[in-house]
Amino acid sequence: MPQTLILGQTLDFSGNPFTQPWQDTVQHRQHGAILVDGDRIVETGDTDTLCRAHPQTPVRDYGDALITAGFVDAHMHYPQTAMIASWGKRLIDWLNDYTFPEESQFGDPGYASEIAGRTCDLALAHGTTTLTSFTTIHPTSVDAFFGAAAARNMAVVAGKTCMDRNAPDTLRDTAQTAYDDSKSLLNKWHGVGRAHYAITPRFSPTSTPEQLDTLGQLWGEYPDVLMQTHLSEQTDEIDWVRDLFPSARDYLDTYEQFGLLGPNGLYGHSIHLEPREVDRLAEIDAAVVHCPTSNTFIGSGLFDMGGLATRVRTGLATDTGGGSSFSMLRTMAAAYEVGQLRGTVLHPSQLMWLATAGSARALRLDNEIGQLNAGSAADLVVLDLASTPAIAQRHARATDVWDAVFPTIMMGDDRAVRATWVAGHCVSP
Ligand code: GUN
Ligand code: ZN
Repeated sequence: MPQTLILGQTLDFSGNPFTQPWQDTVQHRQHGAILVDGDRIVETGDTDTLCRAHPQTPVRDYGDALITAGFVDAHMHYPQTAMIASWGKRLIDWLNDYTFPEESQFGDPGYASEIAGRTCDLALAHGTTTLTSFTTIHPTSVDAFFGAAAARNMAVVAGKTCMDRNAPDTLRDTAQTAYDDSKSLLNKWHGVGRAHYAITPRFSPTSTPEQLDTLGQLWGEYPDVLMQTHLSEQTDEIDWVRDLFPSARDYLDTYEQFGLLGPNGLYGHSIHLEPREVDRLAEIDAAVVHCPTSNTFIGSGLFDMGGLATRVRTGLATDTGGGSSFSMLRTMAAAYEVGQLRGTVLHPSQLMWLATAGSARALRLDNEIGQLNAGSAADLVVLDLASTPAIAQRHARATDVWDAVFPTIMMGDDRAVRATWVAGHCVSP
């Protein structure tokens, strides 16, 4: 296998900075090196040590740019790429007026492939190497997404979005077709290359109890795959869920009753949780996913990072196109701002961890992605920490590595991405 030595500042995590002092979890090297062999990282260390040990290996030197594991987006909707930044609605109206008409087009394989490819390319240009995506009810939309990701060798998570009520005719399946199509797509894609299937009921309001039940049964047959959905995003949504499921103890119970609460569950948003719901998520060891640009854009509320990330596996995500950016840097900035509004000051190490190792752990893919460990996939982002004049002048007076990284977290975007590596290949720009 061809080897490459990639040089730059390196940043990696060996622990969770929410449950340990962050200083104990971070490994930063001012002059770092990553030895890549084929699609894997085989060794990390200091530049001098690795260059001396591998004198014949070709070198890619990024100078003082910062190299970390590629960003991992733990919740997004690729079919919403073309309608990102749609104005003026809260969740339910936003779904009905903008989202559902757009998603109705994904029965067309040509359109689905075009948007899937566009989404993967935008992700890579923003330094995101793994996407976790909802699709639409159409099996073609799932094939298009896994196909586009495979063509780029990206590790992705996705599944057929299931809805059999409270959606237009063009966007409704049934309890039975949701089960049948999900099962056959799972068998077609899960474990093929870098594809991971996730059973995907959109959210309780768009599934009948019968559909939630069949998907719970499917998860019972394949407990090792992920299950992704939405939970407690907006207060009007929660009121609606209470009307639709009068016997449920709370929103989480609408999933739990039907076998859709488990350790491989991913619950997007999870903003307005009751204490019982937090206790249950922690007890089951499920994961929540914070989508801060979406939560401010759609006006949903302020995620309780202080209360959740210490107890529940937590990922970070764009939630494109409810989210207003494809950038995990912009997403980290929004997470910082939401934290400030809730009185939780997030350290830059915690933000970087959420966007890499934390999201990988939420997806239970931390053996594969999210870190610079020997054996991990060589999925990397190389960040220019002085990518614009405004960032450069602030970076110039940085006093330590975190002071040098924080301006890029707060003010950076795709211009900060010097390169993205996927499975040992530099793919962008
Ligand atoms: N809840 C159910 N569907 C969606 C969606 O597409 N986006 C967001 N933000 N919330 C949802
Ligand atoms: Zn979502």
